[in-house]
Amino acid sequence: MNPFQSIYEEIGEENIKRLTKNFYSQVVEIPELRKLYPEDLAAAEDRLFLFLIQVFGGPQTYSEQRGHPRLRMRHMQWKIDGKLRNHWLNAMLNSMDQLKLEQETREKMMRYFINAANHMVNHA
Ligand code: HEM
Repeated sequence: MNPFQSIYEEIGEENIKRLTKNFYSQVVEIPELRKLYPEDLAAAEDRLFLFLIQVFGGPQTYSEQRGHPRLRMRHMQWKIDGKLRNHWLNAMLNSMDQLKLEQETREKMMRYFINAANHMVNHA
């Protein structure tokens, strides 16, 4: 089990729901991000929610619906440089700040998101 797979148990599904809701409230505030997302943010929110449940050790509903995540490949359709990564990360870290989390869990989640966001960069 990787260290991130205990997060689902530690914070519960409700907090992952809140996190993804907060995240998309941030996205609408950041034009550089908002323009990339589809008009229907509710559907996008649901995909991120199910994905995070899965990587954090909960039910594998994301893969049942969407297949193997292959996230880097799915993100190739957008030019993601360091600046865009920072916008995304800011939105996610601000969203995390609105949750009450144990310090250890918070650090683990930050590590996960920083790594994952770096992994999505595909443009200088
Ligand atoms: C680094 C900058 C990033 C940008 C600019 C970005 C942008 C986007 C956009 C525009 C979408 C389409 C929304 C949709 O219709 O679902 C998307 C989808 C998605 N993103 Fe990101 N993303 C980034 C990083 C990440 C990271 C770090 C994660 C995971 C921790 C992630 C997880 C996802 C997931 C799960 C989907 C839905 C994939 C699918 O099933 O089609 N993204 N992203």
